[in-house]
Amino acid sequence: MAEGKAILVTGGCGFIGSNFIHYMLKQHPDYRVINLDKLTYCGNLDNLCEVVQQPNVAFVKGDIAEREQVRGILHDEGVDCIVNFAAESHVDRSIEDPDLFLRTNVLGTQVLLEGAREAHVPLFIQISTDEVYGSLGPTGEFTETTPLKPNSPYAASKTAADLMVRAYIKTYGINAIVTRCSNNYGPYQFPEKLLPLMISNAMKDKELPIYGDGLNIRDWIYVEDHCRALDVILHRGKSGEIYNIGGASERTNLEVVRTILEVLGKPESLIHFVTDRPGHDRRYAMDFSKLKKELGWQPQVTFEEGIKQTVTWYVEHQAWWQRIKTGEYMEYYERMYGNR
Ligand code: NAD
Ligand code: TYD
Repeated sequence: MAEGKAILVTGGCGFIGSNFIHYMLKQHPDYRVINLDKLTYCGNLDNLCEVVQQPNVAFVKGDIAEREQVRGILHDEGVDCIVNFAAESHVDRSIEDPDLFLRTNVLGTQVLLEGAREAHVPLFIQISTDEVYGSLGPTGEFTETTPLKPNSPYAASKTAADLMVRAYIKTYGINAIVTRCSNNYGPYQFPEKLLPLMISNAMKDKELPIYGDGLNIRDWIYVEDHCRALDVILHRGKSGEIYNIGGASERTNLEVVRTILEVLGKPESLIHFVTDRPGHDRRYAMDFSKLKKELGWQPQVTFEEGIKQTVTWYVEHQAWWQRIKTGEYMEYYERMYGNR
């Protein structure tokens, strides 16, 4: 992609999307970013307050599943690349209410793909997840050719979206890439996910709810490493390919929570085992050798460093997560943009 081009980031007010916008503006100050976000419960404009006034950053409050709105943006803005982060992303919520996951994650992706096709957008990047592969036993790793066996409504919706991307590549010849990343952690993560929930609860000496026996394993990646991988893929990735992205940091949930308690100097007595999540995947592990070999990327932040930086961020940004926990940030949007 040539210098100075325009990127449509969807879901840029969420956790990874906002980190990606910060990262890209730092790396490519001449790029233009158009951020299309519905501002659902987890979309937070506070995540972008440092860059929102920049002349090369535009925010559009809107829905990726709204065809006319997507068409309008792609028609007006001369977009060079779409990076689709927008999604309903929480497994527990998908178990309670799968409908919205289908609308946003599947239909929304298809509407964006259709927009990309009509407007001849040069590149579409679908931000997918390791959860499309299902669950591993004690050994082995997911590769890009591992069969797709999603177990939660969230994972199934992401799988359907991946396959829609494939169909648009094969049928209509659009240029698109699918990336599948493992569990991210870092600044601006909504405090319903494991790390920010445990950090913010522990800081207030509240119970830390661990599902089941706490021995489920995730491969944790610091969000900036994910953004760095996407930057590489956006510029040098090959259309039609799938790239796994991983952190090379497998940890049980108990190990993660114990590390957080250690960094915060809080007692293990805060840990409480609670009823397991239905269909809870036991283990994820990523083989990202393709990305390493073909594009020279590998994670740079160790789990120990990343956790320390993350805990420090949440300690220093209490106002950020407290506004979320009290719902104050949503009241502000209702005043700004009306009821949603
Ligand atoms: P998030 O829930 O923090 O953010 C999602 C964002 O999408 C929010 O800003 C929300 O307002 C927006 N959004 C939701 N529905 C929308 C719609 N219909 N139209 C426009 N915007 C909408 O999620 P996240 O953790 O930042 O994840 C981003 C993407 O990365 C998702 O596609 C997710 O599946 C994928 N992913 C996440 C992880 C992880 O560990 N968090 C790992 C791998 C892949
Ligand atoms: P989560 O952050 O929801 O990510 P995902 O389910 O997409 O991997 O959860 C990470 C792990 O932490 C997962 O095994 C479920 C577990 N977990 C708990 O034990 N307690 C909690 O309160 C939460 C939110 C998650």
